[in-house]
Amino acid sequence: MLNIRSILFFVGTCCLFAACEDAQEQESTTYSFDMEPLTIDVTDPNSAANFSEVAVTHLDWDAVVNFDTKTIEATALWTIDNKAGSEKLILDTDDLTIKNVTLDGGEKTQFELKEEHPIYGRALEIEIFPETKQVAIEYATSPAAYAVQWLNPQQTAGKEQPFLFTQSQAILARTWLPCQDGPGVRFTYNANVQVPEGLMALMSAENPTEKSDNGAYSFKMEQPIPSYLFALSVGDLAFQKIGSNSGVYAEPSVVAAAAKEFEDLPKMIKAAEALYGPYRWGQYDIIVLPPSFPYGGMENPRLTFATPTILAGDKSLTSLVAHELAHSWSGNLVTNTNWEEFWLNEGFTVYFEQRIMEAIYGREYSEMLASLEYEGLKEEIESFRANKTLPDTRLKVELEGRDPEETFSGIPYNKGYLFLRNIEETVGREKFDAFLKEYFDAYGFKVMNTEAFIQLLNIHLIEGDETIAEQLNLNEWIFEPGLPAKHPIPTSDKFAEVEKLITDDMDYASIKETAANWSTHEWLRFVNKLPRDIGTEKMAQLDETLDLTNSTNAEIQAAWYKLAIANQYEAAYPNIEAFLVNVGRYKFLGPLYTEFAKTPGGLVQAIQIYEKARPNYHSVSSGRADKVLGLVK
Ligand code: BES
Ligand code: ZN
Repeated sequence: MLNIRSILFFVGTCCLFAACEDAQEQESTTYSFDMEPLTIDVTDPNSAANFSEVAVTHLDWDAVVNFDTKTIEATALWTIDNKAGSEKLILDTDDLTIKNVTLDGGEKTQFELKEEHPIYGRALEIEIFPETKQVAIEYATSPAAYAVQWLNPQQTAGKEQPFLFTQSQAILARTWLPCQDGPGVRFTYNANVQVPEGLMALMSAENPTEKSDNGAYSFKMEQPIPSYLFALSVGDLAFQKIGSNSGVYAEPSVVAAAAKEFEDLPKMIKAAEALYGPYRWGQYDIIVLPPSFPYGGMENPRLTFATPTILAGDKSLTSLVAHELAHSWSGNLVTNTNWEEFWLNEGFTVYFEQRIMEAIYGREYSEMLASLEYEGLKEEIESFRANKTLPDTRLKVELEGRDPEETFSGIPYNKGYLFLRNIEETVGREKFDAFLKEYFDAYGFKVMNTEAFIQLLNIHLIEGDETIAEQLNLNEWIFEPGLPAKHPIPTSDKFAEVEKLITDDMDYASIKETAANWSTHEWLRFVNKLPRDIGTEKMAQLDETLDLTNSTNAEIQAAWYKLAIANQYEAAYPNIEAFLVNVGRYKFLGPLYTEFAKTPGGLVQAIQIYEKARPNYHSVSSGRADKVLGLVK
């Protein structure tokens, strides 16, 4: 682990910057990392690939998508850079059938699928020559490939055509592409994809805006991406333009509503660029997927994948779009070296998301968002404590031999956010913004890890100043569990007003009157701050006045249903069941199933619902829910 004192020494001896003393001067100074970018080694505990000897650089992917067999038959033609003159190319695979492997346009070569690792799958060792330039792998995916969800027409809005989407992050790309499956390896790609006639195919690449006549599509991704951003979606899709370089794809019956919901997208792109420099990917589109999508959003380059549960009708849940857009800088441009450094992707992105929301909707709005997350973070840390897994609340985690899934939580997001906000509040916004802009510029299309980030902070922001170092408190924020005692606390006046209404003898009529003007976020604060043991009687009274059980806002539904389960307020159960069967977004499912599982009776009810719901879920969600419900260890 990095020793902070040695860095301070390093900074002291080669101080590269003269501090800018007044803010005025600061504003007009263009900040630059006036040095060679740091050399950052990539090692990856979650990949068997030998990328430091021989690395893939480009992919030509030819694929046929077969909905009948639920398989993708493909050839992955990799161009490689054999830096070490190695005689082996090692790729990650999981549950792939490898048919044959050829080198440089023809010659068959030997390959071996190594023994299966329970988490990482099977390494594919291919014999190559030091001078080999290209390796072609003919293969097929399994119908159970973790990354891919095959939906039947019933699971779509249109109910007539099947649908498919992939989710590669964190280490699922290897279930549909033999690849060097770590975030530290980047490649460009071209693809030819054949899908059934009448469907559209889209990738994390230059995309069509109309269906082809014969189901054949070609794609090009000219910027190098890591494997976790390799993505495909196929379905009955239509496109609607939103801004000059943005638009939305969705099923035909959804696309107009989606375009309306995301109408501020051009403003978001503009705000993001004004903060941290040009958008480097050309087009920015969003695809609204069917409700089984296991995440809220996924930042696949040029084409964010999104859940339909953010279509609230009033734009109130679109901070998720700001988040995925922000990943076009944090994550997709500057990428964590491996998944132990995940907080660098997500913490930066939440910080950036907040800044975009503040720029467009004002500070009060972004503080409401931050405050909701802050409350969630404190609760989450407490549950880690209760489960005796507090070490996983460190920003930097250990993943040797583990599945990155295991440590996935809100910690890298919201603790990461607070950490960066603490830096902002310590050094001042101007200085931090200039630093970040330069950071994205200097490290675009490169990797970053915690140690290198600490070095950059030391060189450019701390500059040997002990008071700043003390306030930044880097060691505790990054390497210690929980939250440092002194941390930024988001505050909202509107929320303070909401909380005043919650009393032992609540006046339901006046709540109703005030609530008529509430935003989604005030509703969420209200529901979240209701006493956890409020009791069915008050739940019923609230429901009668506020009709919460019938809310159509997925965030409010999830918050209210959690309380309903905790209080065994059974009037809400039919809606809860419908919600759990329809929606696959784990952020909502997890807390609801967890709440059910707290009592033996609840667990029985949950398992009954789960039997109906599970077939609709993507492997990410069913895998996690299986554990929560005690169905697997
Ligand atoms: N990249 C993540 C989703 C992800 C993380 C997938 C780890 C697989 C492994 C995405 O950007 C994300 O953070 N999505 C959030 C939304 C956000 C507003 C916090 C989600 O899905 O809830
Ligand atoms: Zn994210």
